[in-house]
Amino acid sequence: MIFQKRSTRTRVSSETGMALLGGHALFLGPSDIQLGVNESMKDTASVLSRFNDIILARVFAHNDITELAKYSSVPIINALSDLHHPLQTLADLMALQQHFGKDLSGKTVAWVGDGNNVLHDLMLGSLKMGMNVQIATPAGYECDPDIMAKSVVLAKKNGATLTTTNVAEDAVKGADVVVTDTWVSMGQEDEYEKRVKEFDGYQVNTELMGKANDGAVFLHCLPRHVEEVTDEVIYSDASLVFNEAENRMWTVMAVMAAQMGKVE
Ligand code: CP
Ligand code: NVA
Repeated sequence: MIFQKRSTRTRVSSETGMALLGGHALFLGPSDIQLGVNESMKDTASVLSRFNDIILARVFAHNDITELAKYSSVPIINALSDLHHPLQTLADLMALQQHFGKDLSGKTVAWVGDGNNVLHDLMLGSLKMGMNVQIATPAGYECDPDIMAKSVVLAKKNGATLTTTNVAEDAVKGADVVVTDTWVSMGQEDEYEKRVKEFDGYQVNTELMGKANDGAVFLHCLPRHVEEVTDEVIYSDASLVFNEAENRMWTVMAVMAAQMGKVE
């Protein structure tokens, strides 16, 4: 497990999950291995492949994940890059299925916040499940255009709708699920003040939740800050955030077992 950034959920769920599967996980933080300082991605991937059955990596640039995948002879699991957070989406969809039932098609997910890595996989995953996606981001914080293009194709294929707006209230109207994430992702700490100003009006609070459908639920991958969601919402009965967090373990276990050929 290569971690170039901090982690609570991803690290602990993967390490504990691998132990529960009967395996062993090694945590390699930024100062534990040569990667990035003294050794290339290519050599690191080749060497780690000789010792391990899976490489799980949390990196800054998504290109590092594709490099690892190119040179590794064992499966690579993306544990967060600047572009994607697929493990999070699996846990989110599981939390929604636990709440609404297995068939999520026709439900509407609203994203209110940064057009970031967490949104990218959530939109791809939700559309694959036949859910509609309504995205509100401040101007200048829209999601990646290539991922948007893929999402448009997926929406068409699955008979789902996909909309974007700069108005938080518009995204939340008709939503069964309201989701946000930090406004300041890891590596963007220097932009904190600018971002907090530019995300003004994007806080998920009781008033905003009140504009969603009756019975709407709230998701956040965590860690959370009060500027993006109030205590009232995150600790309310509508919040599924701790089920989401727990599901990080069950879902990464399924991914690891599948990658080792232990399940279909
Ligand atoms: N949600 C998530 O990936 O949390 P960590 O950064 O703590 O792993
Ligand atoms: N968007 C956040 C997610 C953290 C789990 C980040 O990249 O830091």
